[in-house]
Amino acid sequence: MQKIPILIRHASQLVTLQGSSDAPLAGKRMEELNIIEDGSVWLENGVIKAVGTDEEVFNLCNDRIEEALIIDAAGKLVTPGLVEPHTHLVYSGTREMEFNMRLHGATYMEIMNNGGGIYATMAATRKATPEQLYNESKQRLDQFLVHGVTTLEAKSGYGLTLEHEIKQLEVAKLLNEHHPIDLVSTFMGAHAVPGEYKNNAESFVDLLVDNMIPEVSRRQLAVFNDVFCEKGVFTPEQSKRILEAGIKNGLLPKIHADEIEPCGGAELAADVGAISADHLLCTSDNGIKKMADAGVIAVLLPGTAFFLMADPANARKMIEAGVPVALSTDCNPGSSPTMSLPFIMNLGCLWMKMTPAEVLTAVTINAAHAIDKGKEIGSIEAGKKADITIFNFPNYMGLQYHYGMNLIHTVIKSGEIVVDGGKPIWDSTRIHS
Ligand code: NIG
Ligand code: FE
Repeated sequence: MQKIPILIRHASQLVTLQGSSDAPLAGKRMEELNIIEDGSVWLENGVIKAVGTDEEVFNLCNDRIEEALIIDAAGKLVTPGLVEPHTHLVYSGTREMEFNMRLHGATYMEIMNNGGGIYATMAATRKATPEQLYNESKQRLDQFLVHGVTTLEAKSGYGLTLEHEIKQLEVAKLLNEHHPIDLVSTFMGAHAVPGEYKNNAESFVDLLVDNMIPEVSRRQLAVFNDVFCEKGVFTPEQSKRILEAGIKNGLLPKIHADEIEPCGGAELAADVGAISADHLLCTSDNGIKKMADAGVIAVLLPGTAFFLMADPANARKMIEAGVPVALSTDCNPGSSPTMSLPFIMNLGCLWMKMTPAEVLTAVTINAAHAIDKGKEIGSIEAGKKADITIFNFPNYMGLQYHYGMNLIHTVIKSGEIVVDGGKPIWDSTRIHS
């Protein structure tokens, strides 16, 4: 279907992040937003066709203005659609009882080792029908969309059998087809050792390596392969085997590294050439250096540290060491039940001392690179996908200055307006049939 061209005019600030499609921004370059004042963008057939000052774009498109829908962005900030590079989107149920237990003194790992935590969500997810999972996850996606997210990574990992992992991944595939947000899937069968293998973790690793990873790859249900490398979950040696099996089957490695205790996860990410290492709350200086040398992106999840009442990752040290940093919600029912990427951006500034410019880079182009989509999304450049967010404030610093708020005015996904005046205008009642 032919889409009506859209001309966004007179943005007070048009944050383009031009020139960053080939590699993520690192070090001082994380502040290179490449802003155009009084900026305009021409979108056509789902693609960005022209970007520049209003005068430049107007002159280019002058003879076609009549055909286009014009959006007046005077007094507003225009940025690339936000990219969410780390979620556990597809799951069933909630875990507020554990939240209460933690506030009475229990720890996250104690709860998990007593059969709660990831195991509680695993039981609920195994029990849920695909329709239930679809509907619960769709509600979360709707929330992401009204907070400005246009592309999102979604992990499996609450099934922990081939059948139930595939069920989760197929739900993500359907959501990708029916929801405006683009989904990129990650297989995370190595999220926990299921109870059936409690005293025999090696056999579960064998199952992942010999059976689950090849089958998920054969069905083309995932792009990435992730592992929870953590004391009491998967050791660095087991994690390495799992990630190497993924590589052999065409799945790019990602890793939950050094979230609760330091265990060499960042070093492993560098050794296997992971696209990203995520969490990194307790990463060693050597791990940071190895990530910088190997070009591994640090996906930091300050919402998880906040919700687990732990100290956040040392973003400043990573940026100063030249590690490209991205930010994400880690949306999941146990350690980060939020869909607000803007709140995570607030935490990036106020808690990890990242600058407002670094934070914006971290949720656009660097997040896009963390899911291997830097050439398609994450910046406003001719030829890229027409994914755009418009905020109710004239400059990018205001996004972080106002905290705990949603300043979204308009979201454009693949050249179509899906949120207008802060309200979703796509058919959100559309359900899986
Ligand atoms: O990224 N650490 C492992 N996985 C999630 C938490 C999952 C859960 O508690 O359900 C995380 O923090
Ligand atoms: Fe996670």
